[in-house]
Amino acid sequence: MPTQTVATNALPVGELITSDEQVSPHTSVNSVAERFFGTTEMDAIAVVDNKKPVGLVTRTKLLFSLFRRFGFELYGRHTIISLAETKPLIVPEDKQLNDVIDMALERPPQDIYDEIIVTHSEGTYRGLLSVKQLVIQQSNALAKSILQKEIASARAKELEKISQVKSQFLANVTHELRSPVNAIIGLAELLRIAAENNSMEQIKERLSFMIASATNLRTIITNILDLSKIEAGKMTIVHQSCDVSEIISEIAETTRILVGRKPVNIEVSVPAEPMKITTDHIKLRQIITNLMTNAAKFTDAGNITVALSINNSSLEIAVHDTGIGIKEEHLEKLFTAFGQIEDAKTKQHQGTGLGLTISKNLAELIGGTITVTSVFGKGSTFSLSLPLQPHNKQGVPDYVE
Ligand SMILES: Nc1ncnc2c1ncn2[C@@H]1O[C@H](COP(=O)(O)OP(=O)(O)OP(=O)(O)O)[C@@H](O)[C@H]1O
Ligand SMILES: [Mg+2]
Repeated sequence: MPTQTVATNALPVGELITSDEQVSPHTSVNSVAERFFGTTEMDAIAVVDNKKPVGLVTRTKLLFSLFRRFGFELYGRHTIISLAETKPLIVPEDKQLNDVIDMALERPPQDIYDEIIVTHSEGTYRGLLSVKQLVIQQSNALAKSILQKEIASARAKELEKISQVKSQFLANVTHELRSPVNAIIGLAELLRIAAENNSMEQIKERLSFMIASATNLRTIITNILDLSKIEAGKMTIVHQSCDVSEIISEIAETTRILVGRKPVNIEVSVPAEPMKITTDHIKLRQIITNLMTNAAKFTDAGNITVALSINNSSLEIAVHDTGIGIKEEHLEKLFTAFGQIEDAKTKQHQGTGLGLTISKNLAELIGGTITVTSVFGKGSTFSLSLPLQPHNKQGVPDYVE
């Protein structure tokens, strides 16, 4: 009967020996029976004469003979060789496991589970192999090899995904970096022409476009560097007292410039009094800017509202927009690096897909969380929640007033 080829097919049986029990052929049947009674884990014993195996006695068969009517009287005083199986399966130690299992299973049904004798290469007795153990070993190996194949294929899929994400990222980053660089070069050329023409108006206009392109470029590079810093665990946090209302109002002003001529109204809803907390205000500013920039980018008409409120033990900053919205199945992807919903080749909006990942990580660094709710085609709300209770390692309260 052919056995399945598994990881064990290159395993010599010499390495699987389960016992080295042996007895001389002249020992009486009674005393061998005593040994079986005294050692319950001994299932078989080899009959060895002058170091060479000459027979095999198994517990089942010996006890079966002895417990038959008059068994002890008939065989008890005889030598063990008279009751031993004198043609057991004997294999050299370097024989491979699968071949041995094949040989064992080809024996008559009553002998199939008999132990196998293993010899050294020169034919002297080395030990016994338990067929039951071999079968167990082989099934384990089979299960292990199936599992290994599964793991290998899962790992391959994972690597494939990582490589796809990286290629997509490279495509995005290259595109995103090239656009502002091209714009700066083009504008510099136009600036030179304007300078030759002595047109101060044109010079001013082209310079402000150049500044905008260079700033865009700087944001992309900063994002990439920030993410590497976060991933390397090297992003440091500096706590300072700051007014969250003021930060929000300032960012709202910049967002108004971003929105440009689109019919989008920006509303700020903050308490009248200053809302001071102790936190890393640069990181906080970066998070709110990212959320507001996204709202401006993905909203063509309607409203963007940024609201600040205190909810039990936390400070909530919610950025709501009436933009394109996000399908439910895409929500999970948003906070993974380069997790843009649009295809890199056909996408209509600029960006590297790092903003939300960085924001989520920064929020965690200052003790907060970001959540999102969205209705596709209607709009989205991204909320940043910061605890008012101390969250930093020193246990200093972060909320001051
Ligand atoms: N307010 C929003 N409305 C609709 N979709 C959004 C909104 N904010 C984020 N998204 C979706 O989530 C994706 C990831 O956002 P993220 O800010 O991480 O990247 P990005 O804006 O594309 O690029 P980057 O921020 O790096 O310039 C976006 O590409 C967009 O598909
Ligand atoms: Mg963004």
